[in-house]
Amino acid sequence: MSKPTSSSLQNSVGLFGNTYFGKKVLVTGHTGFKGSWLSFWLNRLGAKVWGYSLNPQSKPNHWDILKNSFNDSILEKDGDIRGDIRNLPHLQKVFSEVKPDIVFHLAAQALVLPAYEDPIETYSSNLMGTLNIYEVARKSDSCKAIVSITSDKVYQNDELNKAFTEKDTLGGYDPYSSSKACVEIMSTSYRNSFLNIEQYKLKHNILLATARAGNVIGGGDWAAQRLIPDIIRATTNSEKVSLRSPSSTRPWQHVLDPISGYLQLGQKLLSEQSEYSGSWNFGPKEYNWSVLDVIKLLKLGWPKIEYSTEVNPKLFHEAKTLSLNCEKAHSLLGWKPIWNTKYSIEKTIAWYSDFYSEKKVNTEKDLQQFILDAQEQRVEWAVT
Ligand SMILES: NC(=O)c1ccc[n+]([C@@H]2O[C@H](COP(=O)([O-])OP(=O)(O)OC[C@H]3O[C@@H](n4cnc5c(N)ncnc54)[C@H](O)[C@@H]3O)[C@@H](O)[C@H]2O)c1
Repeated sequence: MSKPTSSSLQNSVGLFGNTYFGKKVLVTGHTGFKGSWLSFWLNRLGAKVWGYSLNPQSKPNHWDILKNSFNDSILEKDGDIRGDIRNLPHLQKVFSEVKPDIVFHLAAQALVLPAYEDPIETYSSNLMGTLNIYEVARKSDSCKAIVSITSDKVYQNDELNKAFTEKDTLGGYDPYSSSKACVEIMSTSYRNSFLNIEQYKLKHNILLATARAGNVIGGGDWAAQRLIPDIIRATTNSEKVSLRSPSSTRPWQHVLDPISGYLQLGQKLLSEQSEYSGSWNFGPKEYNWSVLDVIKLLKLGWPKIEYSTEVNPKLFHEAKTLSLNCEKAHSLLGWKPIWNTKYSIEKTIAWYSDFYSEKKVNTEKDLQQFILDAQEQRVEWAVT
């Protein structure tokens, strides 16, 4: 891997065909894990960024850490908007004031176990909240593109170890997964009914894409009941973490990998290439890493981590295997993952251990390393 230099540290401008420079971008869910990384990168790309979210749900959280660590503001003045995507009049007001060119819609109740506990909250935020975003966006006179983030869990998973393509049957066993599958069905209906590409530029001016990515890791996630945040919380409290399903495998990928895909999709939609409207899988390079493999590597980076592998009596069903076929993104979008699973885990644990031991925030450093590695691999979005 090449080393970031001081000049490359400043230079995200020019990536993604310079599409985002000066563009007005609304990120929903900017106070969350992925939304904070995306907002930060958009700022470094020269975009004018607004965020619309509920307050951060954990303490500490990546959003507040970024705001406190970087002197320059990541968002526009008064751009840190707090609100609920189920509040249609408030969303209408925000759209009419901000006039975004593009919306990256990430706000959601994003966790599997809390969705079992409160399915109404999950479906109302994930489905009805997304419906509000689509309605307000399509009726606004500024918005040209929506990139809507769903999940790799939208497929009907029969645990046959099949890598799902975008054409596979939607399902979603549990309320969270099914709420995201509902969003996919609604998105297809919107693309048929209101945002049809046959009528693009004739009856409407918006392109809509959905993005399905897997288990995302990286520094700054403290969400409840996710593997790495649970490990970090237990370790900083000198406790042992008990692994829910040690042998389950997941598509672990660094947060910057799917985000590069979202940004690439947004670039295509903003440049009016209607063939990119649709659904897209963004998965990692490898799928054979179990929960146990992940924690063993984390422990090498942070020896204080202690864990037990007694399988807890499971209250709720969670898929044991899940993998995505990303050939569509590879061949049509020219997207590919930059970091392999091992390196993504190493970067993740280094982020937390530097944060706890030295109060260092590696977000910008990781981003710049990622860009350099993408440039070395000559991926389309990174070539300036
Ligand atoms: N993290 C993952 O591994 C992963 C995997 C697949 C898909 N996703 C999807 O990516 C998106 C972002 O996930 P994340 O990991 O950053 O989640 P997160 O829980 O860290 O952040 C969720 C964000 O949504 C906001 N939000 C929740 N309900 C809201 C509401 N009703 N109104 C306004 N804002 C609301 C929160 O305030 C927060 O900013 C979600 O749509 C999630 O379903 C995440």
